[in-house]
Amino acid sequence: MPHGTARRTPIKTLLAAATPGERVVATGWVRTSRFSKNVNFLELYDGSTPRKLQVVIGADLALIHQARLGTGAAVQVSGQWVASPGAEQSVEILADDLAIIGDSDPTHYPLQKKRTSLEDLRTKAHLRPRANTFQSVFRVRHQLAWQIHRFFHERGFLWIHTPILTGSDAEGAGELFAVSTPEGPEAFFGKKTFLSVSGQLEVECLAQSHTDVYTFGPTFRAENSNTPRHASEFWMIEPEMAFASLDDVIALAEDFVRQVARETIAACPDDFAFFDAHLSPGVLAAVSAAIAQPFARITYTEAQQILAASGKTFEYPIGWGESLQSEHERYLAEEHFKRPVFVTNYPVAQKAFYMRLDDDGRTVAATDLLVPRLGEIIGGSQREERLDVLERRMGELGMHPEPLWWYLDLRRWGTTPHGGFGLGFERMLMWLTGIANIRDAIPFPRTPGNAEF
Ligand code: 4AD
Ligand code: MG
Repeated sequence: MPHGTARRTPIKTLLAAATPGERVVATGWVRTSRFSKNVNFLELYDGSTPRKLQVVIGADLALIHQARLGTGAAVQVSGQWVASPGAEQSVEILADDLAIIGDSDPTHYPLQKKRTSLEDLRTKAHLRPRANTFQSVFRVRHQLAWQIHRFFHERGFLWIHTPILTGSDAEGAGELFAVSTPEGPEAFFGKKTFLSVSGQLEVECLAQSHTDVYTFGPTFRAENSNTPRHASEFWMIEPEMAFASLDDVIALAEDFVRQVARETIAACPDDFAFFDAHLSPGVLAAVSAAIAQPFARITYTEAQQILAASGKTFEYPIGWGESLQSEHERYLAEEHFKRPVFVTNYPVAQKAFYMRLDDDGRTVAATDLLVPRLGEIIGGSQREERLDVLERRMGELGMHPEPLWWYLDLRRWGTTPHGGFGLGFERMLMWLTGIANIRDAIPFPRTPGNAEF
C-alpha cells in the first residue's frame, strides 16, 4: 500500500459520490476511535467537510494497530465502500488495509476531547485548525474569499495587486509599521517605507485607467487597540470605481454584502449549521433576515438625532461633531434599525483627507456600513477629485504634499468623480459566522503583544 497521497479521495467526495461496493482509499486524522468486543470504529476528518468518515476495522487490523489509533493520529485506510444507513452507527468504509502515517500519543494530545475553550486554543494556533470550530471557520473563510472574487469578476472588476511595501500613509492616521533593514530605515529604498494600511491610493490610479477595479490583500495597522474587532494584520477588500458617486458606492456595497453573504451561506450549509448549533445560536436566522431586506440609509446628522432621541445613556458623548463609537453604531444597527445601515456624510474633521468635501463645507461624501452585533464592517467614500480642494484640505491638515505628489498629479490628467469602499474581511467573516473575536477569524492572529506563531 502506498504510504503517500496516492489515489486518496477527499472525504467530502466519498460521502457525496462513492457507490456501495467500490474500493476506496481515504486519508485523514482520527477524531475518535472505539474498540469493543464486537466492532471497532474510527472517525476520520480531512478538512474537506464537517461530516466525519466512519471506518469499521476488523478484529485482526484492530489487534495490530489499536494502541496507535488514538485521537490525532494520521492514517490511511483502504477498503470497501458500504451503503450508509444514515443512523449514528453508520458504516462507510469496511477497512481491509490500514497504515499509521503519523503517530499521536493520545494521552498527551494537546486538544483533548473535553471541549477546549476558544481562548485556550489561541495558545495552540498550530493545532487549533483541527478542532471542529476551526475546521469550519477556515473552510468558510476560503469560501467567502472565493465568493468575493467571483462577485467582482462577474461584474468586470479587475483584481489589482497593490504594494504591501509603501512610502505613503494612505489613511493619514499615523498607524504605520515601519520597514527597515539592518543598515537602517532608509538604506534600502532611499526613503522611509511602511507596511500598507490600505491599497486605496494606489488602486485609485488603476481606477483612472481601467474604471472598475479592486484590491484584496493583507493590511497592517499599528493601532494599539486591544478589542475583539481589531487586528494588527487583517485582510481588506477595496473596490474602486471611476465615473462614480457616493450613491454608486453605496449601491455596490449593498449588492456586494448581500450576494456574497447569501452565496457563502448556500455553499457551506453544514458549516453554518454547526455555527448555528454550537458557536452562536440564532446567527443563521439573524444574518438571513438582515440580507433579505434593503439596508437602511441615514446621514451622520440623522444618526446623532436618533441617538439623542433614544433616551439611552451611553458611555461616550453624543451630539453633532462627536465620533460614533462602537456602542452608538451597535445601537443604530441592532436596536433602532434592526438591520444593516449606511451612515453617510460625516463631519469633515472625522474623516481621511481624500474624502470629497460636500457643498455645505462641513461634511464629506463618506459612508460606513454598520451591522448588528459588530458595528462598522465597511468604510468608504467618494474621493476628492478636484485638485485645488484636495490641496487645500491637505494644507489644513498640515500634510506635506511632496510624498503624495503622484496622488495629486492623478487629478491633473482626466480626473473623474470616483469612489469605493473597504471591507474588513475578518469582520465580514465574524458577522456571518457569529465568531465573537477577530483572533478566531484568522489562522495566525497578530495583535498587540502577540505574534507567537
Ligand atoms: O475604514 P477604513 O480605515 O477605510 C479604509 O482603509 C479605506 N481606505 C477604505 C476605502 O475606502 N477603500 O477600513 C475599512 C474597513 C473597516 O470598515 C473595518 O471593517 C476594517 O477595514 N478594519 C479592520 N479590521 C480589522 N482590524 C483592524 N485594525 C481594522 N481596521 C479597519
Ligand atoms: Mg473606518
